[in-house]
Amino acid sequence: MTIGTHDTGTGYEMKPPSYKADLTEVGRGKPMGELLRRYWHPVGLSRDAGDVPVRVQALGEDLVLFRDRQGRPGLLHARCCHRGTTLYYGKVEDSGIRCCYHGWLFDTQGHCLEQPCEPEGGSFKDKVRQPWYPVEERYGLIFAYMGPPDKKPVLPRYDCLETMDGGEFVEADDSSIGGGGPAIIPCNWLQHFENVADPYHVPVLHGSFSGPQFTNMMASMPEVRFETTDRGVAIRSVRPQDGGKVFYRVTEAIFPTLRVVPNPRVAQFARVESIGWMLPLHDTAFRIYVAGRVKTSGDIGRMRSKFNGKFWWDMTEREHQQFPGDYEAQVGQGPITLHSEEHFGQSDRGVLMVRRTIRNQLDAMAAGRDPAGVSFDPDAPPIVFEAGNYIRDV
Ligand code: FES
Ligand SMILES: [Fe+2]
Repeated sequence: MTIGTHDTGTGYEMKPPSYKADLTEVGRGKPMGELLRRYWHPVGLSRDAGDVPVRVQALGEDLVLFRDRQGRPGLLHARCCHRGTTLYYGKVEDSGIRCCYHGWLFDTQGHCLEQPCEPEGGSFKDKVRQPWYPVEERYGLIFAYMGPPDKKPVLPRYDCLETMDGGEFVEADDSSIGGGGPAIIPCNWLQHFENVADPYHVPVLHGSFSGPQFTNMMASMPEVRFETTDRGVAIRSVRPQDGGKVFYRVTEAIFPTLRVVPNPRVAQFARVESIGWMLPLHDTAFRIYVAGRVKTSGDIGRMRSKFNGKFWWDMTEREHQQFPGDYEAQVGQGPITLHSEEHFGQSDRGVLMVRRTIRNQLDAMAAGRDPAGVSFDPDAPPIVFEAGNYIRDV
């Protein structure tokens, strides 16, 4: 108790907290939702698209993914345009998916081909269209474009997934490797994207706090340079090594949701071997798709962190407290972190840079320009990343 003075800084004095909706909310018509809709996003593994419809959530929309019997993948709104049941219970046929309720048949572009309860098999089938999105397959993933049709860019190629070293091939993974927890991570996608530009958390969260979760080389405090590039933010961390050498590690946060992070666990000094795409499912959940060069099938899955020798889902609640990782730290920020309550320091420069560069893209779009990194050139060369782990002379 204080006598004669007032206590300060108590919770009671807080102003109502808030978050930056323009940077976080992913729905159609929201600033970030529209920015995200100007890019292709992975929505499933190629092998998910088959004759059993799969539920997909993306950018706040409920969808179904399937592949007709002619081999064409399709991504349709789940809610049938007749009377609204879900196509998740539909049946995949030669030329599309048939709704379970009254049998309307839709092709992969939402054209209604049959209305079996209507006279003559459907007199107005040409007048209805099941909402659909264009999809393309690459790197073992199904990518969807959910934005304005006249702004559809080409699906980018990436050199690190095009140029193989001996014996390598590309494999994809949908288990949110790098998210530190289960496949679906219940918080806003930006909390994870900002984490890519936050190398200072590595020696704390993944080093001293829970014991080294990565290689010992990653456990020392780096000297970091951040730079805004024409495609996102580059983070260059330098850690001195014996013999006058330095461990030089570059990670990149690429628009709109790519984490280009070299493996922090394997002491391998080379260009980045995998890319992670965050897919915002809705405002308060995301998942991560990864595609990478591997020598043995399943290598990406083997990159998954263990904590105290256990996988995340095998840990007790007490172990989650004792050995927290990215999942605990980011979900711990809340469903959408309260930006009004933050206090930034020098070490948060990268996070601020990410927010500023996103805001620049929102401004560019508001001014009628295309956001960074979209290309309409089908012959554009594959994008080469700087990211990697390297040993260099000082
Ligand atoms: S609700 Fe789909 S066909 Fe009637
Ligand atoms: Fe981390």
